[in-house]
Amino acid sequence: MDKILVVGCSGLVGGRLMELAACRYELFGTYNEHEIQGKNIYKLDATDRKNTFRLVEKIKPDCVVDVHSLTNLDYCETHPEETWHTNVVGSRNIAEACKNFGCKYIFLSTDYVFDGRKTKKYSEKDKPHPLCYYSKTKAITEYVLTMLDVDHLTIRSSVIYGKGSNSARVNFVLWLISKLKKNESVRVVDDQRSCPTFADNLIEFILALYEKDETGLFHVTGKDCINRYDFSCEVANLFGFDRSLISQIRTAELHQTAQRPSSVDMSVDKAEKAAKMQTLGIKEGLSILKKQIGDRI
Ligand SMILES: NC(=O)c1ccc[n+]([C@@H]2O[C@H](COP(=O)([O-])OP(=O)(O)OC[C@H]3O[C@@H](n4cnc5c(N)ncnc54)[C@H](OP(=O)(O)O)[C@@H]3O)[C@@H](O)[C@H]2O)c1
Repeated sequence: MDKILVVGCSGLVGGRLMELAACRYELFGTYNEHEIQGKNIYKLDATDRKNTFRLVEKIKPDCVVDVHSLTNLDYCETHPEETWHTNVVGSRNIAEACKNFGCKYIFLSTDYVFDGRKTKKYSEKDKPHPLCYYSKTKAITEYVLTMLDVDHLTIRSSVIYGKGSNSARVNFVLWLISKLKKNESVRVVDDQRSCPTFADNLIEFILALYEKDETGLFHVTGKDCINRYDFSCEVANLFGFDRSLISQIRTAELHQTAQRPSSVDMSVDKAEKAAKMQTLGIKEGLSILKKQIGDRI
């Protein structure tokens, strides 16, 4: 049984990965500020190079899945130094520890490395042009990995939603459900399009690509490209909430600090071929989520 270390298992993707992969791998995980309890769980600040190397040396994993990051775009924009250390220096530390101790490194990146000006789907061959600081740190880390000569996989994903087992940060869909459930109205932008990704599907892809010993860059997102308002209406329909609680607004009305791309449609052909799996559309992902959290609605 391969050993996998998940850096950032107190987050959305990391927490779900620990649950879904538990029967197939010997799992180890780390948290930083949001303590979680459990077997093989360690505290790690990835910006601490010594401790990062020490932990990888101690565990000797076959693979490290790096899902650690500062992910709040507006916070990143106003805290560039902290964001640089966490997102770039932290990931480089983990990647170099992997290189040093001979294990595979898997990095989670974002569709926001693109500016959204392309009218067709973005492929892995398209050149990044990030608009905000968070996305810049992700694009830079992608580049650093190619320079480090470490056995690695970079996976770009988009607007991830799911059960969020340990996650301190509520993902968009769970936030929306919690509002609609209380009959609270919400305002959602209709001029940002992306490919919402069901966390469980993303994780199955990560594991399949790892098992097939793939390397390099892959896009793994949901199949449908949709604007945030229409996506919210799909959530309301599927979960049986009142759709009229959702109103449309424009991005400019939100006065967000970090600039977001207006439309990023991702081609997932490369990942689907390599993993021999299909990415899920919105209705499929949300239906599975509904079954998983049905009793909590
Ligand atoms: N969520 C999305 O929509 C989305 C879309 C595209 C790409 N991604 C990428 O996918 C990955 C996972 O995203 P997510 O939504 O699961 O993130 P998340 O829920 O915000 O979790 C982030 C994780 O990073 C950890 N972390 C933060 N600073 C750290 C540090 N200095 N050292 C070690 N760990 C640290 C956090 O630990 P503590 O909470 O314990 O501090 C937490 O476990 C990230 O790389 C993100 O950029 C996410």
